Amino acid sequence: MHHAPTLGADPERPLYIVFVGAGAVGCFYASRLHHPSHNIHTSLIARSNYATLAANGVSLQTHTFGNYTFTPSSVLPSPSAAAAAPHPWDFVIVTTKALPDRSDDATLIAPLVSPTTTILLIQNGVGVEAPYRRRFPSNPIVSGVTVISAEQITPGTVRQNRWTRLHLGPYSHSADLDAESRVDSHLESLGLAKAHQIGDYWTRLGGIKDVEISDELDLQIIRWHKLTINAAFNPSSVLSGGRTNADMVSDPELRSHLKGVMEEIWEAVPTILGGRKFGEGLASPERILKSTERNVGGRPSMLVDWEAGRPMELEVILGNPVKIARGRGVRLGRMEGMYALLRSAQGRRDGEKGKGKGKGKEEGKL
Ligand SMILES: NC(=O)c1ccc[n+]([C@@H]2O[C@H](COP(=O)([O-])OP(=O)(O)OC[C@H]3O[C@@H](n4cnc5c(N)ncnc54)[C@H](OP(=O)(O)O)[C@@H]3O)[C@@H](O)[C@H]2O)c1
Repeated sequence: MHHAPTLGADPERPLYIVFVGAGAVGCFYASRLHHPSHNIHTSLIARSNYATLAANGVSLQTHTFGNYTFTPSSVLPSPSAAAAAPHPWDFVIVTTKALPDRSDDATLIAPLVSPTTTILLIQNGVGVEAPYRRRFPSNPIVSGVTVISAEQITPGTVRQNRWTRLHLGPYSHSADLDAESRVDSHLESLGLAKAHQIGDYWTRLGGIKDVEISDELDLQIIRWHKLTINAAFNPSSVLSGGRTNADMVSDPELRSHLKGVMEEIWEAVPTILGGRKFGEGLASPERILKSTERNVGGRPSMLVDWEAGRPMELEVILGNPVKIARGRGVRLGRMEGMYALLRSAQGRRDGEKGKGKGKGKEEGKL
């Protein structure tokens, strides 16, 4: 195509992208980033749904783009299989659930990362980037925050219910998020250029209209703002006995609790982010509560994971913020409480699950 040189990758040099984590978010965003006619070749590393994806690709049911099938360049069963590809990967995009207490995903992707690879994370929570920066001190890292409602309804079938918002920005910090002085300006500008490059493919080739690129600290503001929603609603939904978001905001005690969690983060953010505040453009706790009233049926992912017996993203949604805040001398009291309770509940559930399994086996033998 004659316009490929300006829109897509270099016609002489294919661009290779691999997603690690072929779930709801990974499959959706990968499907908008695979453009062989523009020399952009996108692959998926899958786990439990590997066989289905390898045989049939991904079936997408989307609110924004209708229904279609996405056939990636390749579907790979593991990072080591992807590392055997005869080319380096230009972008490694991590779309697993962020579970640093269960899985060291920075180590997992190490075989895929060459000196020129950009690592892009699209995950909820805060502090998700630090293990990647520690492991890959000189690669560009792009931090991604998405507002989307998507789920894998059966293996290989992904439904996007609404929204496509994707915020991208560089992450250069040498270790944890800290004051501006620790931003590495070379890595920041490299990461920013990569964020623009890939954001441009998503927008101009993939049709995603609300990709926004920010600088490093603004992206962290967005990440912490998204956290106010996730940290308030997700844990409370589990601890309240499995109530939906709209149901919780209709209960005066729960509504006041949710507002308290959001305000707690709101007040701590300037201390955590070197004086930066949430800007006027970001929804206030009251506005978030108001708009949640209409979101009937919305079930937080943490509740879905809890009910399915899967690990919850407790560390990145509660543990990291609590620890980062403590490091700055700020206590997030409500979040500390929920963190302690849910960590315990998850531990006991998993312990009991282990015992249950053993018992089941013995009964089976009888
Ligand atoms: N879904 C949403 O609407 C939404 C919205 C905003 C933000 N987010 C965030 O986006 C991130 C991804 O969420 P999601 O909803 O897409 O989760 P998901 O549907 O559970 O997808 C995660 C995928 O990662 C795979 N995976 C995990 N570890 C792997 C490994 N070691 N090797 C290969 N594959 C691995 C999982 O495979 P298995 O099937 O084998 O476990 C699963 O397919 C999370 O941080 C989430 O909080 C999600």
